[in-house]
Amino acid sequence: MTNSQNLLELENATVAFGGFLAVSGLDFCVTKGELRCLIGPNGAGKTTALDLICGKTPISSGMIRFEGRPIDHLKEYQISRIGIGRKFQVPSVFRELTVRENLRIGNSRDPGVFGNLWRFGGKTEEPERLAELVGLQDELETAAAHLSHGQTQWLEIALILAQDPALILMDEPTAGMTGQETRKTADLFNRLRGQHTLMVVEHDMGFVRDIAETISVMHQGKLLAEGTLEEISADEAVREAYLGSGGIGHA
Ligand SMILES: Nc1ncnc2c1ncn2[C@@H]1O[C@H](COP(=O)(O)OP(=O)(O)O)[C@@H](O)[C@H]1O
Ligand SMILES: [Mg+2]
Repeated sequence: MTNSQNLLELENATVAFGGFLAVSGLDFCVTKGELRCLIGPNGAGKTTALDLICGKTPISSGMIRFEGRPIDHLKEYQISRIGIGRKFQVPSVFRELTVRENLRIGNSRDPGVFGNLWRFGGKTEEPERLAELVGLQDELETAAAHLSHGQTQWLEIALILAQDPALILMDEPTAGMTGQETRKTADLFNRLRGQHTLMVVEHDMGFVRDIAETISVMHQGKLLAEGTLEEISADEAVREAYLGSGGIGHA
């Protein structure tokens, strides 16, 4: 299954919490430049899968490769340094600082970022350009504390983009957003498409519909199905997995 096009490969990846397998023999690949959506009912193991990839949760067995090299033995900060960026559900922007100042300083989660913000790829990302990319060009002098929920999420996304990671992982980026903010976020993801490799865990099927190429469906820690929205919507096993949660459209 090793393929030079694969940026990320999970092979039989398993995470056990005591006797419980939150991720169970997961085989999963992401190709360079793609925008992959990961969906699945509550408790399917999606967040744990992201935690596993970014080194927050140790692997119990199996293997993870990034750019062809095993990374499952690396610590979280090392994985961040080799180019895997993670957006968490709770943003960690500096609330007292302006958008411009936040974009200058970078992301506080990785102490290595201080003083060395532009180390990835040597691509200098100006605050103005980043702000424009995420739709915050008119808020550069606004304190982060005064941004709306959606704007705060976009700032957090811009902070990750500032580091230009080869792979960006996002866990429910539209959670808590208004419909309009969600649509703007879909536009943003469509602009990022092809420029970055993105793996997005998402609940909102309207949003998934707007951005999706390939969708992977997890259920009970395993990969249940993979394909276009049409394909997975027609998949009997997927329908069954979503029974009781109101169907795939209401996941
Ligand atoms: N630290 C943990 N210890 C024990 N069980 C956990 C832990 N984290 C997650 N789980 C369990 O693992 C399963 C998968 O959780 P999670 O990855 O958060 O699912 P999802 O993001 O798909 O909703 C759930 O049953 C959850 O209760
Ligand atoms: Mg989750």
